[in-house]
Amino acid sequence: MSMLKKALERGLTPTNIINYASLQVMTRWGRFYGTLRLRCKALFVGVPIGAGVTAHGPVGLMRWPGSHISIGAGVSLISSWRRATAAALATPVRLRTYGPGARIDIGPGAQLSGTSITARSTAISIGRQALLAPNCIIVDSDFHAHWPPEARATEPGMEGDRPVTIGDYAWIGLNCIILKGVTIGEGAIIGAGSVVTKDVPPHSLAVGSPARVVRSLVPDEDRAAAAHVNVHAAGLITGQATGQTTSAVQPQTPQGGE
Ligand SMILES: CC(C)(COP(=O)(O)OP(=O)(O)OC[C@H]1O[C@@H](n2cnc3c(N)ncnc32)[C@H](O)[C@@H]1OP(=O)(O)O)[C@@H](O)C(=O)NCCC(=O)NCCS
Repeated sequence: MSMLKKALERGLTPTNIINYASLQVMTRWGRFYGTLRLRCKALFVGVPIGAGVTAHGPVGLMRWPGSHISIGAGVSLISSWRRATAAALATPVRLRTYGPGARIDIGPGAQLSGTSITARSTAISIGRQALLAPNCIIVDSDFHAHWPPEARATEPGMEGDRPVTIGDYAWIGLNCIILKGVTIGEGAIIGAGSVVTKDVPPHSLAVGSPARVVRSLVPDEDRAAAAHVNVHAAGLITGQATGQTTSAVQPQTPQGGE
């Protein structure tokens, strides 16, 4: 009752209060039910799940016999448009392996929202605390042979499959597609709507289709500091290699000095 009084004192209308309360109920119930379903399903299909994993809405877990899917501690899987922050979702989260050697590993604290990850014969790994904005697709395969055309429907062309790695703390924008063989470096950002076909170095911003690196994310002063450290390290290494210490690293005592 006192909470209600406080809310009215703060100028919140009854409609605001009902609105907020219904949002809270939907969010909490969605998380409770989604997580319970995920845990039951994971147990059933043999997918290890870390502590504190949450799911909102249904999560598709399809593990081919002999393959591996793991979900690290504290991962958040969002399959509900009610809970998704930046955009409505085209699909629920889906993690699918298609062959005995395939694997999918979701690192601790990663956040996936309507993400589709399909590993056909290699490995796809998502780094610690990586952020995948709504509706991203990640694949390790083209799923059809390129040649001859008449065999495409039947020939899977698995020899072209390549693993995909998304580094720790990387942030993949809305509606991105990450294709086979790509490594996205630690802390990199991929702009919304990008199609990533080649590796992206750590701490860089890549955008577009195909995604191109447009700049480094490291602030200028940090880069300058790192360059300074590198010069010192190079001096040390040179000194060690020649058995001497360079003056840049340590001042020389003059020969015959006191
Ligand atoms: C990637 C992003 C964060 C970069 O923002 P930013 O630092 O303000 O971008 P910049 O202005 O430095 O962009 C650099 C260049 O890349 C271009 N660019 C930026 N994002 C782009 C995108 N998604 N697609 C194509 N080009 C893009 C800019 O036009 C600019 O080009 P220019 O140098 O020719 O003018 C932002 O563009 C973006 O995609 N935001 C959406 C993030 C998202 O999906 N959030 C969902 C919640 S998780």
